[in-house]
Amino acid sequence: MQKYKIWDGAVRFFHWSQVLLLGGLWYSAEQELYGIHMTLAYSLAALLLARLVWALVGSDNARFGHFVYSPAEVWHYWRQKPQSGVDGHNPLSGYMVLLLLLLVLLQFITGLMTTDDVFTEGPLVAAVDSSWVALASSFHRLNLDILLILIGLHVLAALWHQWRGDKVISQLVTGKSEQPLSQPLQFQKFYWFLLLVLLFGFGFYSWQGEQLWLLLQADLAG
Ligand code: HEM
Ligand code: HEM
Repeated sequence: MQKYKIWDGAVRFFHWSQVLLLGGLWYSAEQELYGIHMTLAYSLAALLLARLVWALVGSDNARFGHFVYSPAEVWHYWRQKPQSGVDGHNPLSGYMVLLLLLLVLLQFITGLMTTDDVFTEGPLVAAVDSSWVALASSFHRLNLDILLILIGLHVLAALWHQWRGDKVISQLVTGKSEQPLSQPLQFQKFYWFLLLVLLFGFGFYSWQGEQLWLLLQADLAG
C-alpha cells in the first residue's frame, strides 16, 4: 500500500524522547537523584527549545501557523460531521499541544528556582527573591498533577483516534499516513533540528556542566 509522509523526524524524535525523559524526571525526583533529575531536565529543555524554534522555521505542519486555529475554527471543526481530515494536529489537539508545551516549559523554568529545603536547589534559587522560590517550588510540585491529568486526556484522545481508524499513533511512530494528504507539505531536514538541540544542549552544559558532574557523582555514590 502506498504511504504518504505526514510527520518529519524532528516532531517524532521530540515527542518520543519527551515521553521517555518525563518518565525519567518523575522517577529520579521520586528517588531523590537530583543529579540525574537535572541532567534529564536540561536535555528535555534543549529538545523543547529546539521544538519551539522548529515551530517557527521547521517543517510546514510542525509550525504554529499550521496548527493554531481561532476558537471559531475549532468550533466549526468540532460541529462538522464527518470531521474533515487534517495533515497534522487537528484544530482541537493544536490547543492541547500548546498547553502541554507551555506546562512542560513552566515545569522546567520553575525547576530552576525550586529547592527541596535540604541540600538541593536549582541554579536560580540564590538569584531570586525567596517569595519567588516558594511560589516556584509549589508550582513545580503541583504542576506535575496538572500535567498528569492532561497527558491522560491526551493519550485517551490518541487511543480513541487510533481505534477509530485515523491511526494517529502509528503516524507519529512511522511518520507515514495511509491517506493521501489534502495539500503538499514541505519538510525540513532532521539534521537542522539536531543541530538546534545540540546548540541548546551546549549552552546548558557551559552554564551548569560543572555543577551537574558534582551532583551526578553524589547520585552514583548513593
Ligand atoms: C509524557 C507524555 C506525553 C506528552 C507530554 C505528550 C505531548 C505531546 C505533544 C507536545 C505533542 C505535539 C508534538 C509536536 O508537535 O511536536 C504530541 C502529539 C501527539 N501525541 Fe503525545 N505526549 C505524551 C504521550 C503520548 C503517548 C503515550 C501517546 C500515544 C499513546 C501520544 C500520542 C500522540 C499523538 C498521536 C500525537 C499527534 C496528535 C495530533 O495528531 O495532533 N502522546 N504529544
Ligand atoms: C521539565 C522538567 C522537569 C520535570 C518534569 C520535573 C519534575 C519534578 C518532580 C515530579 C518532582 C517531585 C515533586 C514532588 O516531590 O512532589 C521534582 C522535584 C524537584 N525538581 Fe524537578 N522537574 C523538572 C525540572 C527541574 C529542573 C530544571 C530543576 C533544577 C535545575 C529541578 C529541580 C528539582 C528539585 C530541587 C526538586 C525537589 C523539590 C522538593 O523536594 O520539593 N527540576 N521535579
